[in-house]
Amino acid sequence: GKVAVLMGGPSAEREISLMSGKGILAALREKGVDAHAFDPAERELFDLKREKFDRAFIALHGRFGEDGTVQGALEVLRIPYTGSGVMGSALAMDKWRTKLVWLAAGIPTPRFAMVKRTSDWDRVADTLGMPLIMKPVREGSTIGLTKVMRIADLPEAYELAAKYDDLVIAEEFIAGQELTASVLGEVALPLIRIEAPQGNYDYQNKYFTDDTRYHCPSGIRAEVEDEIRKLTLKSFRVLGCRGWGRADAMLRPDGTFSFLEMNTSPGMTSHSLVPMAAKATGMPYPDLCVRILEGAAL
Ligand code: DAL
Ligand code: MG
Repeated sequence: GKVAVLMGGPSAEREISLMSGKGILAALREKGVDAHAFDPAERELFDLKREKFDRAFIALHGRFGEDGTVQGALEVLRIPYTGSGVMGSALAMDKWRTKLVWLAAGIPTPRFAMVKRTSDWDRVADTLGMPLIMKPVREGSTIGLTKVMRIADLPEAYELAAKYDDLVIAEEFIAGQELTASVLGEVALPLIRIEAPQGNYDYQNKYFTDDTRYHCPSGIRAEVEDEIRKLTLKSFRVLGCRGWGRADAMLRPDGTFSFLEMNTSPGMTSHSLVPMAAKATGMPYPDLCVRILEGAAL
């Protein structure tokens, strides 16, 4: 039947979603799927029903697409869609509530504090240590995120994050290796270790430069890799996620680690991580797209 690749959308990650969607669309077509681009920022979702689409591949990132809203609309329209359902999407989009659930389930995550414009910054710095990470609660692709080196810079970092969300979180900075764990169906794929220029895996170094190095196999100790992959599945399940996703984590030099967040509609661009991990298991990008599509459900 007809498949809509939902891409673009109105979020701050629109540009990335268009890149993900373009790749997915071409791959599905190459595999003989009757796939069509559909941008919810330009059209009404109800057109999916009118135009008799049978399934939706969600390639939207961030708010209005990765956060349960579009998922809810598709539930109402009774159109099966890829990835997590309403609750899992909404929970994973919210880095604060994700942490609350993870802490209750024994998933390690960096210490944090919810902050406001009027926060006592000395106290925040005292509690979490410096440097620290300031970020909007519901964003992606490191948009609005600052690694803050000095207490005096905390208010400015807050203001930047607050541009993207009325909830802002300050988080302990973990010095160590940056890892990502992809989930496909019931399986955690091999970890990727990310080595960004100056340790700065930001918007530019995620998608536009070729200076970031990716290691898969990760090169970390096998027992640690196994443990992280096992906990990735638990962290995914406890949020109520489904189908596919990607957890980001930090590994300290002493072998302990913390999960930063869960992405329920991870990037599928030419520089993205889930495709890299799939490739390492012998699954080419077009097959990965078909696999994800096969997981479409209501
Ligand atoms: N938020 C981006 C798309 C990612 O996690 O891959
Ligand atoms: Mg994210």
